[in-house]
Amino acid sequence: MSEERKKIMKIVSDKMPKVDVASILTAEEINAIKEFMHHYPHARAASLDALKTVQKRNGWVDDAQMNAIANLLDIAPSDMDGVATFYNRIYRQPVGRHVILICDSVACYLTGYEALSAEIKAQLGIDYGQTTADGRFTLLPICCLGNCDKGPAVLIGEDTYGPVQPDEVAQLLELYA
Ligand code: FES
Repeated sequence: MSEERKKIMKIVSDKMPKVDVASILTAEEINAIKEFMHHYPHARAASLDALKTVQKRNGWVDDAQMNAIANLLDIAPSDMDGVATFYNRIYRQPVGRHVILICDSVACYLTGYEALSAEIKAQLGIDYGQTTADGRFTLLPICCLGNCDKGPAVLIGEDTYGPVQPDEVAQLLELYA
């Protein structure tokens, strides 16, 4: 790291609001994050793993948790927020019990994305960015799930499906209570 960069990081670090990490994160979360820090040459590299760990608790990461992780890793909260924003499976607001991500990239677009997304929206009664009233599903678009040869593709929670036809949607949704 250059001296200039070090100087800037020190200024940022000095301005970082200190938070009581132990009152925000669980002991298990803190231990897991510290473990990740040992795996990387720089604590910053553990950001994504740390966010994923904390997200497991409530399904999303709130501001207090974000700041606590930043403090633990000793990086600026804005940097941590940048990581969370870049990675589209870290959620910064409450989501349903199951997040449905529909691939809208070109291969899936050509194999039936429009009909599939219309069917899922109709069955759930919500649009992108919304959560069903019962808190069961949140619906979001995503760029490529890496399942391009089996489009149109959908990710529900950690499960990837494809190709999914509109008439299979109801059965698929029933798998998620
Ligand atoms: S384009 Fe849809 S999974 Fe890659």
